[in-house]
Amino acid sequence: MILTPTAPEKQTASQCSQFMHDVLTGLSAKPKHLQSKYFYDEQGDKLFQDIMNCPEYYLTGLEMEIFTQQTELLANAIRESGEPFDLIELGAGDATKSIHLLRRLVEQGTDFEYMPIDISGHVISELEANLPSSVPGLKLTGLEGEYFQMLEKASAISNRRKVVMFLGSNIGNMPVSDAQAFCVEIRKHLSDGDMMLMGVDLKKNPNIIRAAYDDKGGITKAFNLNLLTRINRELGADFDLEQFDHYCNYDPETGACKSYLISLNEQVVNLHGKSIRFEKDEYIWMEISQKYTIEEVDEMAIQAGFTPAGHIFDSKHWFVDAVLIAG
Ligand code: AVJ
Repeated sequence: MILTPTAPEKQTASQCSQFMHDVLTGLSAKPKHLQSKYFYDEQGDKLFQDIMNCPEYYLTGLEMEIFTQQTELLANAIRESGEPFDLIELGAGDATKSIHLLRRLVEQGTDFEYMPIDISGHVISELEANLPSSVPGLKLTGLEGEYFQMLEKASAISNRRKVVMFLGSNIGNMPVSDAQAFCVEIRKHLSDGDMMLMGVDLKKNPNIIRAAYDDKGGITKAFNLNLLTRINRELGADFDLEQFDHYCNYDPETGACKSYLISLNEQVVNLHGKSIRFEKDEYIWMEISQKYTIEEVDEMAIQAGFTPAGHIFDSKHWFVDAVLIAG
């Protein structure tokens, strides 16, 4: 069953004006900033795929190792008492990691329904087209939209136990206080005994972290610059990409890894009838990829009303999928 259009939808006017509003607000602020959620247009999706294939970008491979090498452990943690449940994945993407878990659960004869949530209609229709044939017997309901709205929709469809998966260290794209608030919000949408499986990139050698966001091939730089290209195309701005460089910094004390674009000269960019001035060397803060210790992950979960029930690590203990029980 699919509740959403199967064809990729055109951007609505309100999504577009939201984008315009956010960009204007961010570029009028001091210091300037843009929101990394806007990285993912068609070209951005492609560049992120390329990042995941960069030798320096270890996150995807390590969580993949967890999903392929510790599938049984994951499946057992999630199945728990054996009660039927809905497996809700926030930002499912192409489900290349979750597919291993889904296959194992189906093989075990588990009674569950997979509900991927994604903001992209394209992603949901691809999953609908491909997953049932690669995981025969899988029950799937795709939900296209914002996480919390779709969580509510999922609750309206079914009152079974819920297991929410939030993988890939996507939580890292929020500053710590927002991440904390996000966990609280998720908890509000869950009942006692429900579960969250959260993938988090852990603090480690700072050089390894910084290199992951400053790859030698320049893919991460292109990924950041692509947002300027998107603003030019969709909002009619005139950013000159040659006039910006990429800078990334990891602070081992706070665990914040931040990306910036640096204006190489004094310049003016025109956007929606406004002139946006850049000083030479002025930066736009583009993204945060926050890193945590395992204690910090547990602490954040406890604060939000979860009980940490398990840590599933990769072999290097660089990444964790934390099993968190609501209540
Ligand atoms: C998709 C948010 C997990 O922060 O590691 C990768 C995005 N940005 N390289 C991350 C990203 C630059 C990625 N997440």
